[in-house]
Amino acid sequence: MSSAEQVGGAVAALEADLRGLWADPPNLPPRWFYDERGSLLFDEITRLPEYYPTRCEAEILCTEATGIVGDASTLVELGSGTSEKTRVLLDVLARRSGGASTSPGGALYVPVDISEEMLLASARAVDAEYPGVRVEPVVGDFTALAGSLPGTPGERLVLFLGGTLGNFTEAEREGFWRMLRGVMDAGDRMAVGFDLVKDPARLEAAYDDAAGVTAEFDLNVLDVIGRTVAVRGLDRADFRHESVWNADESRIEMWLRAVRDVRLEFPTLGRELTLAAGEGIRTEIARKFTPDELTAELSGHGFAGRAVWTDAAGDFGLLLAEAG
Ligand code: SAH
Ligand code: AVI
Repeated sequence: MSSAEQVGGAVAALEADLRGLWADPPNLPPRWFYDERGSLLFDEITRLPEYYPTRCEAEILCTEATGIVGDASTLVELGSGTSEKTRVLLDVLARRSGGASTSPGGALYVPVDISEEMLLASARAVDAEYPGVRVEPVVGDFTALAGSLPGTPGERLVLFLGGTLGNFTEAEREGFWRMLRGVMDAGDRMAVGFDLVKDPARLEAAYDDAAGVTAEFDLNVLDVIGRTVAVRGLDRADFRHESVWNADESRIEMWLRAVRDVRLEFPTLGRELTLAAGEGIRTEIARKFTPDELTAELSGHGFAGRAVWTDAAGDFGLLLAEAG
């Protein structure tokens, strides 16, 4: 595909997603956060004192790496980002395969992400670090996988880390499990990271840090919109970032609130959006779970729970499940 076609594809995809701006409440899907700058900002978020999920999940992965990788010969990672935390699992895979993998195809790592620059740079780094592991990055949407996953049936481990699962609505999560079960074979396993319900003040701070990095990450989506589609009246100074705990839905919500009356015109869509001061756009949800509800949900989608681990402080969980 030419780069002009890729740009055209992104314009059409964003224009389709912008329809959410006229929903109640106005909302955008979170995938538009992750242009090159957004991916770097997220990487910065993972090191913030308030943002515990990355450190907690890394602790679980370090402690449980051998059991998580098990007999897998292929790791397929959805939304792999920098692949930083994954290295402890790649260490096990590389050590076990001893450079000459027991599987006919050899040890394989397939990171899947829509953030192309971040994905390709991270895949190159992993490739250089792990000569015994074949690395085959896929630039794409992890909600639209089709066919069969790469690797030997029954020997795949799908990784969905970071709590990215929580960024789906309830309906999107249902569709995601259905799709995922369809591209996996019996005996394949998956490891899913999920954030645990906890004190709302800690949750809100994790999504609204003192240094303002998460605010910048949120506002960056306005720059992505302004650069990608035709829009008049868009000024990031008209918005402020907000993080709110929604107890009824068990989720953090990130909002961009208008600080004054705003009118955005989208000529190619033939529509305009008006927001009165105080109204906003919901830019992300981050659902928090209990281990039992997630295990039950997965069993309804053909996945048998094999293990659930949390970090020592009990802040974050990792669920290992097998496709039946
Ligand atoms: N797994 C990493 C990164 C999490 S950030 C970690 O735990 O730290 C979420 C990642 O998912 C980003 O790299 C983003 O680019 C990617 N992403 C978001 N929506 C996506 C989609 N629909 N398809 C593919 N990748 C997506
Ligand atoms: C990628 N995802 C799991 C992050 C989260 O915690 O929901 C995205 C994020 N948004 C703000 N901070 C981090």
